[in-house]
Amino acid sequence: MPENKNLTPPRHIAIIMDGNGRWAKNRGLPRTAGHAAGAESFRKIANYCRTLGVQYLTVYAFSTENWKRSAEEVGGIMKLLGRYLKEAIADMEKNHVCFRFFGDLSKLSPDLQKLCREAEERSGTYHEVQVNFCLNYGGRDEIVRAARTFAREVAEGKRQPEELTEELLSGYLYSAGVPDPELIIRPSGEKRTSNFLLWQSAYSEFVFMNVLWPDFGPDDLDEAIAEYHRRNRRFGGV
Ligand code: FPP
Repeated sequence: MPENKNLTPPRHIAIIMDGNGRWAKNRGLPRTAGHAAGAESFRKIANYCRTLGVQYLTVYAFSTENWKRSAEEVGGIMKLLGRYLKEAIADMEKNHVCFRFFGDLSKLSPDLQKLCREAEERSGTYHEVQVNFCLNYGGRDEIVRAARTFAREVAEGKRQPEELTEELLSGYLYSAGVPDPELIIRPSGEKRTSNFLLWQSAYSEFVFMNVLWPDFGPDDLDEAIAEYHRRNRRFGGV
């Protein structure tokens, strides 16, 4: 039980939504049923973050490596995303959630790309909570793209190599303008970062939990926030 439900939540929480496949397997269901349950968990947690006053929620929905899964599973996840985005766009005026997408969207279907753009454009003025969907996202890929853009600008004479600082490089990432996450949660018992927010997580607190993502609820988020507050964040100082 979290000892204090009134603790100030972190400004930015990031989540690796893991364990959908095992949740489905435990019930003798197809993996896509696990992802559907995972999408419901996401909806619940995004709403809960809004009521807590969390300003940024970043979720790992599909990695650059997830294409290796079966065509059926990839298709199922894409279908769910499309359905979720359509509903989210319809609910936007009510929920005041701002959407952003981190990742190379050019590999997604034209319909899904259009939905992503529409969600971003129509929610751009909302500031209650910002949801960053990582779609076809990889942390290393993000850094390589940033380096490539900077190198291009140097080659074009727009920048000097010496100008590059941590702040400047941050501005080339998908997350430009978004503060780093204070708390990163990985449910499902795995204890890896799996190429998620490599640059942005330099000083994040990681909380690994044993619950599978489709079973993850508001009480689990409370517990992760309580654990975050028990940690002593020093940023390399004493
Ligand atoms: C990891 O669980 C989960 C994914 C690769 C996909 C996450 C996608 C969703 C939650 C659905 C789409 C999201 C929204 C918001 C519509 P896993 O399949 O690796 O689980 P396992 O490790 O138990 O096999």
